[in-house]
Amino acid sequence: MRHNFPGWKVLTFPELESTNSYCRDLIHNEEVPEGTVVHALTQTKGRGQGAKTWESEPGKNLTFSVILHPVFLNPADQFLLSMIASLAITGFLDNHIGGISIKWPNDIYVENKKTAGILIENSVMHNRIESSVMGIGVNVNQDKFSAGLTSAVSLRQITGKSFDLHQCLNSLCGEIARLYRLLRQGGHEEIKRNYTSMLYRLNEECTFRSSGREFSATPKGVDETGRLIVELPGGVKKHFSLQELEFLIP
Ligand code: BTN
Repeated sequence: MRHNFPGWKVLTFPELESTNSYCRDLIHNEEVPEGTVVHALTQTKGRGQGAKTWESEPGKNLTFSVILHPVFLNPADQFLLSMIASLAITGFLDNHIGGISIKWPNDIYVENKKTAGILIENSVMHNRIESSVMGIGVNVNQDKFSAGLTSAVSLRQITGKSFDLHQCLNSLCGEIARLYRLLRQGGHEEIKRNYTSMLYRLNEECTFRSSGREFSATPKGVDETGRLIVELPGGVKKHFSLQELEFLIP
């Protein structure tokens, strides 16, 4: 396949359990060059955030992982990897549709529905990020999702058109490569600014749940560690990690 990210190599498999798991095994067993892309047409055990699974109809969507070695990045700044993955997907989607945002921390939304998800698994040793597996799932040509997945939507459902998966993979990897270069060059502020500007319901009052209690607050941005900063009615600002906060979608 021709692509516009020099040095990157794409391995496409008809079927894998999970591209993230495959990459983790690969890294464990051998030295893997940066920019190795593992792409599966079908995943039989796709993994989502936490203990969730990632549903994707065989052959219909993009499911792939990129292996990076961001040894130049302080582990305290690793949320920047989530930010570039999110921005790469929004940049790619922007060529095709509108209404895109990033639902903190890294769900990609079109209006109030999720089009793509990200699972980043970093391996930190001696205070260095030795490797990062950036797993990405984008709902592209799927027409119907299972009944439990009421918030999922695909590009085809939104536009009525089918997309060439290899072209999508090529253009998305091009975006990742571009943003990874920016990260390596120290463009932290630019990345953070762009990520913040894309945040779902930024500066709008929303409902959240934390420690079993529902409350209203307004998303204002993220801090260095990726915690969401929200402003409570009355003006006090609080920072929440993913484990502490649930975003309740209308
Ligand atoms: C989420 O939103 O819960 C994260 C979903 C991440 C799914 C992708 S698909 C490719 C890669 N391999 C996996 O097993 N998961 C990620």
